[in-house]
Amino acid sequence: MTDTTRELIRSTASHATRARAPAKKPWQGWLDAELGFRNHWYPAALSSHIAEGAARGVTLLGEEILLTRQDGRLFAVEDRCCHRGVRFSARPLFYTRDTVTCWYHTWTYDLETGRLFTILTEPQAPIIGKCGLKPYPVTEAQGAVFIFIGDIEPPELSSDVPPGFLDDNIAVAAVEPYDIKANWRLACENGYDPGHHFIHNWSKLCIDADAPVPFGWVTSREDIAKTTHYETREPGPKGFTRTIAHTEMPFEATIPAKGDRAEVTVRPPLAEGKSPDVLAAAQADAEHGKVGLWLPCGLKVEDWPFKDVWHVEFYVPKDAGTHTYFQFGCKRVADETARRRWLESEHAELWKAIPDDFTGEDAFARENMEKFYAEEDGWHRERLFRPDIELTMWRRFASEHARGIQTRDHAKGVARP
Ligand code: FES
Ligand code: FE2
Repeated sequence: MTDTTRELIRSTASHATRARAPAKKPWQGWLDAELGFRNHWYPAALSSHIAEGAARGVTLLGEEILLTRQDGRLFAVEDRCCHRGVRFSARPLFYTRDTVTCWYHTWTYDLETGRLFTILTEPQAPIIGKCGLKPYPVTEAQGAVFIFIGDIEPPELSSDVPPGFLDDNIAVAAVEPYDIKANWRLACENGYDPGHHFIHNWSKLCIDADAPVPFGWVTSREDIAKTTHYETREPGPKGFTRTIAHTEMPFEATIPAKGDRAEVTVRPPLAEGKSPDVLAAAQADAEHGKVGLWLPCGLKVEDWPFKDVWHVEFYVPKDAGTHTYFQFGCKRVADETARRRWLESEHAELWKAIPDDFTGEDAFARENMEKFYAEEDGWHRERLFRPDIELTMWRRFASEHARGIQTRDHAKGVARP
């Protein structure tokens, strides 16, 4: 081999190495968390999905889990028989209130510990008591069931939901959760993204209300620093909130002249024909709000869509290409009567329609980003602009404060005790 050939091989090899391993980003933890952050609580279902005696298979961070309520108590165990790996949830079978029996060859497990308790066809089998299913910590709050995915002693649930969500005096209206074909990180970023509001010009809620929606929000670095409040106390929810004040919301822009064509002034569809006063009022109205992202995957928007009402969302990783979208409308109430009254009001009714009325546009955007990020190295090819500073702030924050990264081995169960 000549020196030239050797040099060519060496340079090709080093080029290939570079191509395979892009430089680490300051938010590497976020890039690694394709399947979610481990050692956190996640909403898994609405309480109404799990009636007494009912069972449901759920998938969180790639882990399949059987969820059931027996004698009023919730149980969550690995949805995977130790014998040949079928899912109990495919045909749930509970001969007693504290066991689940596999519908295939009758291996029967203790629901509390997950341990193999007996085998109906061979009760003397030596393997009884020697293997079992992973049991998951499970709890219930505000009409939702939460499961802890991880290996550590679970912290309080309040550490993993947006602040105030668990308060006693809150009325909560829940949307039926549904799956969106996009990675969960795209959903977190879309929900918070200050540059994304343009898409809501196509939202029925805004069209029906004839509410002007700008091209996006732009804030200077200095103002972001002033308006963002970080929360990192232990124990407690970790995330940050920004107030909307000090934000430019352009309702008009120009596409510069080119060749013979003069400069063109354009407006978002819902700003067309609106007077400067109406647009200024829309901006002033938005400035009351606050928006915050919370680990592991929650968003809280205050004073939206009505004054004194908050919208809370969770983007729960299901698998690498899917997240389950949970949405809640919350209102502080004085007592039970006020709670009932609000839940029966037109305001609370909105959460039955919101996926079609408003957040459907967000889901549409996430699904349209998925291929770029999943298959085309979008996490390295993306080119960012000023509003995206706030997304990179979140990526860094989440990388630093999350309790762990979910790996493919966790999802496959090989890392399960
Ligand atoms: Fe469950 Fe055989 S696969 S008992
Ligand atoms: Fe949105």
